[in-house]
Amino acid sequence: MTLPTIAILGATGQQGRAVLDHFCAHHGEAYTIRAVVRDPTAAAAKTGSNASKVQYVCGNYTDAASLRTAFDGAEYVFAMTSPDMSFTGLEEQWGRNIADAVRNANSVRLLVFSSAPDATAISGGTLECANFAGKAAAQRYMVEIGIPAVFVWPGFFMQNHVPGKPGQPRRVNEKQSAVVFDTLNPAKYIGASIPLVGDWLTFPELATRWARTTGVPPTSRRITEDEFAAPFGPDAATANPVCKMLLEMYRFVNQYGYYKGNAPESLLAPTTSWETFVRRHWPAVASPAASLESTWTPAQTAIARYFRIFDKTQASLTVSEPSELFAPNGIVSFPFAPEGYANKHVGTQAIKAYYSTWNSIFQFYSWTPLVPRAIGDNGAIVEIECRGSIKTTGKAYDQKYVGVAQVDDAGKITQYTEYWDVSKLSAFTP
Ligand SMILES: NC(=O)c1ccc[n+]([C@@H]2O[C@H](COP(=O)([O-])OP(=O)(O)OC[C@H]3O[C@@H](n4cnc5c(N)ncnc54)[C@H](OP(=O)(O)O)[C@@H]3O)[C@@H](O)[C@H]2O)c1
Repeated sequence: MTLPTIAILGATGQQGRAVLDHFCAHHGEAYTIRAVVRDPTAAAAKTGSNASKVQYVCGNYTDAASLRTAFDGAEYVFAMTSPDMSFTGLEEQWGRNIADAVRNANSVRLLVFSSAPDATAISGGTLECANFAGKAAAQRYMVEIGIPAVFVWPGFFMQNHVPGKPGQPRRVNEKQSAVVFDTLNPAKYIGASIPLVGDWLTFPELATRWARTTGVPPTSRRITEDEFAAPFGPDAATANPVCKMLLEMYRFVNQYGYYKGNAPESLLAPTTSWETFVRRHWPAVASPAASLESTWTPAQTAIARYFRIFDKTQASLTVSEPSELFAPNGIVSFPFAPEGYANKHVGTQAIKAYYSTWNSIFQFYSWTPLVPRAIGDNGAIVEIECRGSIKTTGKAYDQKYVGVAQVDDAGKITQYTEYWDVSKLSAFTP
């Protein structure tokens, strides 16, 4: 049987590589995976364990003929473009080359094009925003010529903040570390522009959550345009095209919001939250809680074990199901539960029955760090947030919990009280 081919442009870069890795890891048996790159030999040499699953072919988005050959016979194409650093409007042309090659190929059922909101139109022509404009113009052309395309609009990449990148957290004085952020039914989606976001946060929230995850105190300060431009050299705000482009982008985001002020309503697939990303990229500082575990009281340990049943990102303190944590007459109660919701469970059998269904209802993607605080000798309290969804309805379930536990001398929970935002229960309603 011939497998459908997906051609991936930009496969050596951040976006294309992520698409390539995803297909290799999850769909390697179902698709022929074709990486469209400028230098196939060099790209193949870097592939590592995916080498046998990927065909490398030559393609350059400045060269329309090379793309026609590269997309030939492909049913799916993922494509991105880089900003035109000559600032002569070439990015639109590169997008048009991609579009024409897709049209020419005939075989393509869906192009996924990495694009951006049309900042120029949204701002009524007051902002130019070169790195958005070329993509938006290419998107308009793709719609105009009627190729089967869906547009993804990635938000700010979390990768902009990893060590070594301009947006990395910086120490602001000798005593304090701080973070300063300057700044498959394809037809269903054809023509749509889909925000691609892992987390929807303001810059101050980004800083606060980075700090909460790493344990490093945060600072977040809005800087002036002059301060932003200073590292680019004299008169950069008007004379340096890269500085101008970035300033325009931040003006757009400040004045209109990345997606014209709207939080994305839906995501196609679970994505990575900022705090999960921070834990991955700053492992040395991101697990202060783990190092403290040995100092926890039995109540802190019990409440931590309780939440780690749901937070599968944490390997330690495993327990197979919550009732194991409770004393024979232990009580679970949810004082904020609405009328009709089972708000009290007494004894391990009842507790076991209550939790037996959670796995078929909740899908959790990420949790904020678990830092239980002791209350007296036998109590502990924890504040924690999750991002997730309700399996039965597919709706987002981002919840905040405050859990309070009391334990007996054996460290078993005698009373567990949990408070949560009742309004979030609307996610259960289709
Ligand atoms: N950073 C952000 O926060 C952010 C947010 C939203 C959108 N974006 C947009 O995302 C894009 C950058 O994506 P990225 O980070 O994935 O890029 P990247 O990591 O810089 O990689 C660029 C990719 O493009 C390929 N490429 C460059 N010139 C090419 C050409 N002429 N023909 C064919 N392939 C070419 C490169 O291949 P080679 O191996 O041949 O060099 C590489 O695979 C930019 O347009 C940016 O505006 C960025």
